[in-house]
Amino acid sequence: MVSCPDNDIINIGEYLRDIDLAGKTVLVTGGAGFLGSWVCDALMYKGARVLCVDNLSSGAEENIAHLRGKDGFQFIKHDITQPLQPDLKLDLVIHMASRASPFEFERFPEEIIQANTQGTLIALGIAREFGATFLFASSSEVYGDPSLVPTPESFAGNIDPTKMRSCYSVSKRCGEAYVAAFRRQYGLDARVARIFNTYGPRMRADGIYGRAVPRFISQALRGNDITVFGQGRQTRSFCYVTDQVAGLLRLATSPGAEGEVVNIGNDTEITILETAEMIKRLTGSQSQLAFYPLPEDDPIRRCPDIGKARRLLGWEPRVGLEEGLRKTIAWFDGAVQ
Ligand SMILES: NC(=O)c1ccc[n+]([C@@H]2O[C@H](COP(=O)([O-])OP(=O)(O)OC[C@H]3O[C@@H](n4cnc5c(N)ncnc54)[C@H](O)[C@@H]3O)[C@@H](O)[C@H]2O)c1
Repeated sequence: MVSCPDNDIINIGEYLRDIDLAGKTVLVTGGAGFLGSWVCDALMYKGARVLCVDNLSSGAEENIAHLRGKDGFQFIKHDITQPLQPDLKLDLVIHMASRASPFEFERFPEEIIQANTQGTLIALGIAREFGATFLFASSSEVYGDPSLVPTPESFAGNIDPTKMRSCYSVSKRCGEAYVAAFRRQYGLDARVARIFNTYGPRMRADGIYGRAVPRFISQALRGNDITVFGQGRQTRSFCYVTDQVAGLLRLATSPGAEGEVVNIGNDTEITILETAEMIKRLTGSQSQLAFYPLPEDDPIRRCPDIGKARRLLGWEPRVGLEEGLRKTIAWFDGAVQ
């Protein structure tokens, strides 16, 4: 059972207190994944009906097992790169279907490109058919290795399209271009969230090339070496999942955010080495840090400028890194044993 902590869902509900989702019908692609399942939880908590579509490639049925059978929740196992004809009238389409972990960039590049290009096109077509609002889960990776940090939405990006991460970063850019095209050509209310590193319960650890926070936690809990790339001087800014989901749903529903592109993330920057040391301390682990070569296109710094989200959505992160890590460690401790 990988249900998330009830008080976390209540916290998201609290953050969305002024937003009315009761009776709305929402399609969530990638809804059985880490972020998607939290989005489904929050929508159900707010009284929306949810159509969750997922091909279960990197997601897991257990993430939504507690929602199956609940009134208003429907799951369809489906690959969103293939046509889909929902039989419910939709108010909102949230397109989150895409593998997103570094180890998958190497193993499944074609699938990733397809999910963010053809999958986005199909999801946009569904939104257009119903006149629904559209939200695309884009990524900080669209900035590549930015020369401006904290990075604002106006930064155009710095990416070599032939590198390993480019299947992800460039296809997210193409997805954003589709969104802009549907906005201009059809007047669709289509919005883009540029999501920065987010962590929390239900993340997969994924071995040595998995995402840093779940990898460090599972290594620390098992007493294995904590694997740090390079000297660990590269930075990230980690957002706890409840803050991310609240930001995404505020962006999807706020009046005045029509057609906007908004960074959603935490703007506290920390090095990977400091993160590994903090996790070692919080888990009380005896693990050693082990240093591996830095992957060739690992970004040196990642930190969002979230001024636009603050102004437009009345949103900013509320959960500090140590608090979020404690919750995540507690969840992993239950799941890993
Ligand atoms: N977690 C983060 O830090 C982060 C950062 C930036 C962007 N994002 C974006 O948020 C979204 C969700 O990411 P996540 O971290 O939850 O990853 P995840 O791998 O846990 O979730 C992705 C979900 O999409 C499903 N999926 C993949 N391809 C599909 C397809 N063709 N058809 C249907 N379903 C498909 C997977 O089975 C999975 O359930 C992704 O679009 C990702 O790019 C996440």
